[in-house]
Amino acid sequence: MPEPAPGVEPQYRIADFPEVRAIFDRIGLAEQLGVSNPYFLINDGVTRDTSVIGGQDVLNFSSYNYLGMSGHPAVTTAVCDAVTRYGSSVSASRLLSGEKTIHAELERELAALLGTEDAITFTSGHATNVTVIGHIVGPGDLIVHDSLAHDSILQGCKLSGATRRPFPHNDHAALDRVLADIRGRYRRVLIVIEGVYSQDGDIPDLPAIIEVKRKHKALLMIDEAHSIGVLGATGGGIGEHFDIDRADVELWSGTMSKALAGCGGYVAGSAELVRFLKYTTPGFIYSVGITPANAAASLAAIRQLRAEPELPRRLRELSRLFLTLAQEAGIDTGDSQDTPVVPCIIGDSMRALALSNALLRRGINANPILYPAVPEDKARLRFFITACHTEEQITSTVKILAEELETLRAAG
Ligand SMILES: Cc1ncc(COP(=O)(O)O)c(C=O)c1O
Repeated sequence: MPEPAPGVEPQYRIADFPEVRAIFDRIGLAEQLGVSNPYFLINDGVTRDTSVIGGQDVLNFSSYNYLGMSGHPAVTTAVCDAVTRYGSSVSASRLLSGEKTIHAELERELAALLGTEDAITFTSGHATNVTVIGHIVGPGDLIVHDSLAHDSILQGCKLSGATRRPFPHNDHAALDRVLADIRGRYRRVLIVIEGVYSQDGDIPDLPAIIEVKRKHKALLMIDEAHSIGVLGATGGGIGEHFDIDRADVELWSGTMSKALAGCGGYVAGSAELVRFLKYTTPGFIYSVGITPANAAASLAAIRQLRAEPELPRRLRELSRLFLTLAQEAGIDTGDSQDTPVVPCIIGDSMRALALSNALLRRGINANPILYPAVPEDKARLRFFITACHTEEQITSTVKILAEELETLRAAG
């Protein structure tokens, strides 16, 4: 091997990479402290209001199955029919030979639900943001995103080569100030926000953000991973929630892996945008089309949502019940409001881990969210409510949560 350049230490064993050792140390520390590893727990059966962990039925508050569509008989039947008709894979990029009728049907239904002209689907929600952001803006452009943006947005920013500026969470006045300062230096500006923030369960003031975007001649992208099927009277998302003109937002992105019971992402918007993306986006043209099973699942979920229009309202009522009971019990639920994402902020990763262990022992599954996913003083348990939970399940869960929190406090 030639001599390494001065200051360069060759690394050639993956097990010795500092980041590899760091993660093993963190897992080992939890085990030394006697808390069991909460990750990769096997959830057997369909994950709805309950699941099966280690052979035990548990009340489940850790799924994105917001409307209970995964496991719904109509969705399961549609998936089986699609696999019988089309096979398990479309076996090619859609641009070449992978296009199936079910793709266009799904995209039409997505556009109808969101109130846009058209939509395009991708095989992964995360990859949708990465490839689309990376494709719409580039060097010489600016991306301004909420400081709590999901990793998929941050990766898209990196790939794009555009300048990236976070603005303080949900602070449209701060966004306005950033753009007033620097908008003039850039060709295109893309503002990226989310419909519901997945750690805190809060909703941005979309009308105010649209005003800022108009004022500064920017483009707006909203990731509706946690708001499609959830917000709005018919589950049409944050656009329906605020009743805004859908054309005021250029890119409505999201994922079908949560309320829509499948796997894959989408971008909805104008007919021109979707046509452009279908012919040019790397993560679409150089990737296989969404599988028949996944397309059928989300298509059936959207149709079922239309057949059961009470589901988003029921989800809202149950979420409100959880939040109210938790607040009455003195639990710190942060900024959560009117969404099915309710954090219980503990402010210490090890204590959050211990609390999730204690709840699991009492038959409740709620994932801990630890540093570095959130700042250490915001370490928490996160509860996802679904439309298939019952009032009794929620009441007993909050009661047990309050008891276990008290035990944790008493232990010091
Ligand atoms: C805001 C947000 N965007 C994108 C994604 C990625 O979606 P998927 O898990 O379907 O790839 C997630 C996943 O949790 C998310 O929360």
